[in-house]
Amino acid sequence: MEFSDVLRQRRSIRAFSDQVVPDELVRALLEESLASPSWSNTQPYKIGVLSGADVAPLGRELTERFHRLMKIQRQKGVKRLLAAWRDRGALPDGDFRPVVQYPADLQPRRVATGHGLYELLGIARGDKAARDEQMARNFSFFDAPVVLFLFAHKGLGVYSALDAGIFLQSLMLAAANRGLGTCAQGALGLWRSPVAARFDIPEPYQLLCGVALGYPAPDAPINRFQPPRVGLEELLLPRA
Ligand SMILES: Cc1cc2nc3c(=O)[nH]c(=O)nc-3n(C[C@H](O)[C@H](O)[C@H](O)COP(=O)(O)O)c2cc1C
Repeated sequence: MEFSDVLRQRRSIRAFSDQVVPDELVRALLEESLASPSWSNTQPYKIGVLSGADVAPLGRELTERFHRLMKIQRQKGVKRLLAAWRDRGALPDGDFRPVVQYPADLQPRRVATGHGLYELLGIARGDKAARDEQMARNFSFFDAPVVLFLFAHKGLGVYSALDAGIFLQSLMLAAANRGLGTCAQGALGLWRSPVAARFDIPEPYQLLCGVALGYPAPDAPINRFQPPRVGLEELLLPRA
C-alpha cells in the first residue's frame, strides 16, 4: 500500500475474524515497529504478547472484573462505598488512574465519538445495559486472536509515554499495511494484576494500554466506524 493510504485506511477494528495470526507475523510487525524514534534512543517500552489459547482465559478474567466493577458503579452514595469496600478486588489496580472526568473542551469530541459508535450499532442513547455490554467487549479484546500489552518505563516520565505512543502508532500502521486490524485499548490498562500474573514485568515498567490485533471480521458494521477529525483551523494555533 502507498504510505498515505495506510495512514488514511487504518482505523480501530472492534470485530475480528477467527483467522489465526502466525507468531512469526506478530514478531515481524514488532520488529518493523522497532524502527520508531525515541527519546535519546532509550526505547523505554516493553510489550507483552498473548496469543492462541492464552487469550480467552485472560479475557474471561477481565470481563468478570468489569462486570463486578459495573455492579459497584451502579450503586449511589454510601451504598457505592460499601459495595466497593466489600468487593475491593474488583477496583482498578492499574498503574494510572482511569480518566473519569474529561476536560470541558475535549468532552464534546468524546461524546460525539461515543454517540456515533452507538448509533452505528443501533444502541439507543438511554440503553445503558447495551452500552455496558459494548464496553464489556473491550475485555475480551473484541475476539481478537492476539492481544498486546504496552508498558512504559516510569523513569522518563511523560517522555516514555510519548515514545511508547510513537511505537504504538508504528505497530498499528505496520499491521494495517499487511491487512491486519488493531484497536488500541486504554481499557486494558484498568487492571494490572491479571496482566502481571502472565508476564515477568521489570519493576520500572508501567502498563499503559493494550492492543487487540487480528484480521478484521469482514462486513462487521462496527469496523466501518470513522469518527471525524478536527480541521486544520482547529488544530493550528493562531499567532499571538
Ligand atoms: C491510547 C488509546 C487508547 C484507546 N482506548 C480504547 C479503548 O479502550 N476502547 C476502544 O474501543 N477504543 C479505544 N481507542 C480507540 C479510539 O477510540 C480511536 O482511535 C478513535 O476513536 C479514532 O478512531 P480510529 O482509530 O478508528 O481512527 C483508543 C485509542 C488510543 C490511541
